[in-house]
Formats: sequence, structure tokens, C-alpha cells
Amino acid sequence: MTTEPIITEEQVDKVALLGKVPLFAGLDTGRLKQLAAASRVCVYPDGAEIIEEGVEILTFDDGLYLLIDGAVEVRKDSTDGVDGRLLARFGPGEFFGEMALLDDEPRSASVYAVTDSLCLVLSRWDFHRQLHGDPDMAVKMLTVLARRLRVTSGR
Ligand code: CMP
Repeated sequence: MTTEPIITEEQVDKVALLGKVPLFAGLDTGRLKQLAAASRVCVYPDGAEIIEEGVEILTFDDGLYLLIDGAVEVRKDSTDGVDGRLLARFGPGEFFGEMALLDDEPRSASVYAVTDSLCLVLSRWDFHRQLHGDPDMAVKMLTVLARRLRVTSGR
């Protein structure tokens, strides 16, 4: 059995992938390159818990997740990715994990891969740097958060 990672950093054109993420649409190549250098490629098999509800962000490799390929589900009070309350499903181009970065509280829900998934992950520090330096990105994120709140409130 092999322990080789399925995808390595070198195999992924992070600049091209970040350019397709709506949150960063409009960024010039220089800024995309900076973000690409700061982001980490993470691959999750179907069923993997990417974010665990209630956990504090302590490690540098945790942060904002940009879903490049695959699908994830956000669940509250879940122990296995099947039980608990389904809050949202996200697909390629969407982001998650922003809440704990914004309010410095533990993770509000768990996030599970529901197919093999590939994410680019920005650390808390790089996320905040981007947020402060890119008002367009901040406004886009607010728009998405407002939409998500509407969906949740509508339930
Ligand atoms: P965070 O709290 O850092 O980690 C869990 C993530 O799930 C959270 O950030 C959001 O990205 C996402 N999330 C939590 N609640 C909801 C919701 N009601 N609708 C959509 N996404 C959510």
C-alpha cells in the first residue's frame, strides 16, 4: 500500500485555481501569486472531517478553506458526517471556515467531504492580511455571509 500523497503542491497550479475562486475575481496576477504562495493544498477523501465543531484554531495549517474540487457538507451536532443537522452544502469555488477566523470563537459546525475533495487553505494570518488589503474581497464575503444567513433563517 502506498503512502504517497495523491496530489502534491507542485502538481497544482494554485494561481490558476485561485483565479477561478469568485472571492478573488479581479485580483491581478501579482496578488494571486502572493495568495498562492501563502495557501496550502489539502486533499480529503470522501467522508473525511475537514473541520470539527467546537475546536479552536490553534495550528498554522488550519484557516479559511477554498473548495477547488469536490463537495462538502456543513453539519451541526454530527458525530459521523451523516447524523446531526445539515446546514449547507458547498461545491467548487465556494469557501468555508471563515466564521471562527472572524469572531475568534471555536468552529461553529463540522464540515465533511462528501466526495473526494481538494481545498486550498489560507492561514488565519494570511486570511486577515487579505481581508484588510482587499476591500472587494471583504464585500464579496459579506454578501455570501448575508445569503447564507438568509438560507439558515429561512429554515
Ligand atoms: P467556522 O465556524 O469557522 O467552521 C465551520 C464552518 O461552517 C463555518 O465557519 C462556516 O464556514 C460554515 N457554516 C456554519 N454555519 C453555517 C450556516 N448556517 N450556513 C452555511 N455555512 C455555515
